[in-house]
Parts: sequence; structure tokens; C-alpha cells
Amino acid sequence: MGQQKPPLTNDIAQVLLSEEQIQERVKELGEQISRDYEGKELVLVGILKGAAIFLADLVRHITIPVDYDFVAISSYGADTRSSGVVRLLKDLDSSIESKHVLVVEDIVDTGWTLRLSYIVENLRSRKAASVRVCTLLDKPSRRAVDVGIDYYGFIVEDKYVVGYGLDYDGHYRSLPFIGVLKPEVYGGG
Ligand code: IMP
Ligand code: MG
Repeated sequence: MGQQKPPLTNDIAQVLLSEEQIQERVKELGEQISRDYEGKELVLVGILKGAAIFLADLVRHITIPVDYDFVAISSYGADTRSSGVVRLLKDLDSSIESKHVLVVEDIVDTGWTLRLSYIVENLRSRKAASVRVCTLLDKPSRRAVDVGIDYYGFIVEDKYVVGYGLDYDGHYRSLPFIGVLKPEVYGGG
């Protein structure tokens, strides 16, 4: 197994949302979605990789028949933002024609990912019956472009958060809670 590494939790300065808080809120969202989509054919579309854990928990609190699928979108840099190009790296496996689609995101920060990917417009153009957006976290203080959010779990302040699917440089996604990293982890002080 190689060298023993210190637990990931050693790098966390503060727990913002505990596992219990997250689970309680995800259950509420699942119940609300179940009521809102009663009698409709619902497909959750998760955006990889961040939303995978949220989607997995959310779908188990939805009490009406539901299917799910994933898309992957390339992350934007300074170049892609000015060119407005964000690529779809992985598309849906099946048709969403006449289905009600709920896009599931981990966090909406500036809004550029949703905007530049045209993911909502793209799914709508495939004759989905409806396309709405559900994000676990919303950081409205950082919003640069308007995106419509129909469901959110929590509003968070302007801090970089990790855990429950959210990463820093590929790490911390597996933490069951959401926390803020110690400054020294970023190479700060
Ligand atoms: P946006 O394009 O600025 O809205 O950012 C959306 C994407 O950036 C999210 O899907 C995350 O992958 C990433 N992101 C933004 N803020 C955070 C954060 O605080 N922690 C981890 N990832 C973040
Ligand atoms: Mg993401």
C-alpha cells in the first residue's frame, strides 16, 4: 500500500457544512423535487465530476420514478473565457426528447461554466419538455453572468470550499462534509 498519508481532514481549517446538515438539506430538496415533478418523466443530468456525489445522494431522496445521466464540460481558462468556447467532453448516453431535465451542479460561482457551455440551451434544443437547474451551493457574491437557478441547497460566502464532490487540484472530493482549506495548503501562509 506504500507510504501512509495523513488524513485529508488535517488540511481543513473550518467545516462550513457538516455531513448532517448536507444530508438533511439534500433530503428536503429530493422531497421538493418529487412534489414538483409528480407525474412527469424526470432525468437528472449531473455535471462531472463535482456533482456526482450530490446527484447520488439526491436521487435516493426522490420518491418518483427518475433516471440520471452525466455530461462533462471542459473547464475554462482566461483564453476560453475571451473566446467563449467551453467544450462538451462527454455527452448524454440517451435521448432526452420530451423528458423533464434537471441539471445538477455542485456550485455556481461566477456562472461562466453554465453560460459558456450553453448546457441549458443545448439540452432545450433536444426537445426536452423542460430544463431547470439545481445546484448544491450558490455563491452569489461572485456572480459575473446571470444564470437561472431553480433549486439550491445552500448559499455560501466568498470562500473556496472543498469536500462532498468539490475539489482543490483534484483532492478532497471524498470528504463527507464541506470545508475551507487551511491557507498553507494553497502555498499561502
Ligand atoms: P463558475 O463557472 O465560476 O460558476 O464555477 C463553476 C465551477 O468552478 C464549479 O463547477 C466548480 O468546479 C468550480 N468551483 C467554483 N468555486 C469553487 C469552490 O469554492 N470550490 C471548488 N470548486 C469551485
Ligand atoms: Mg464543476
